[in-house]
Amino acid sequence: MEHQIIKYNRIQLLLAFMLVLGLSSCYKDNEETLYPEEGNNCKTENISFSENIFPIVNNNCLSCHSGAGASGGLRLENHTQISDAAVNGRLLGAINHEPGFPAMPQSGNKLSECQIKQFEAWVQQGALNN
Ligand code: HEC
Repeated sequence: MEHQIIKYNRIQLLLAFMLVLGLSSCYKDNEETLYPEEGNNCKTENISFSENIFPIVNNNCLSCHSGAGASGGLRLENHTQISDAAVNGRLLGAINHEPGFPAMPQSGNKLSECQIKQFEAWVQQGALNN
């Protein structure tokens, strides 16, 4: 009898161990679904300037990049100004924090992966005023 109980406990232990292993491997596999904004749920088809791009600039850039005294002499107030800076690569270099570009937003948090992807997609789709 006693022998059997010990055996049962060993099997339980083994099962628990396997469960932990299984869970931890799932955890790694599913990193994408844990941060949906960074992965599959980031909409990058048919990016709209007015719905996707302008709100990002408005919330993160305009406080410095508008008016006569705009930082770095760069104004990002409308489609023409934003698409000019985006198409010549300076804007994407800055938000991606690439070497050789000032990291933007200056002294703020980097834009999210999804916001950066949407900016890149918008440029690839022709930087339309849509
Ligand atoms: C707190 C103020 C501030 C905010 C917010 C800010 N910037 Fe800037 N930005 C600056 C300053 C200051 C410079 C000039 C820095 C330099 O040249 O080293 C600059 C330079 C730049 C440049 C380089 C201009 C050039 O001539 O190459 C780009 C592009 C840029 N910013 C884009 C952005 C974008 C896009 C955002 C929003 C995601 C943003 N910035 C948010 C202050 C800001």
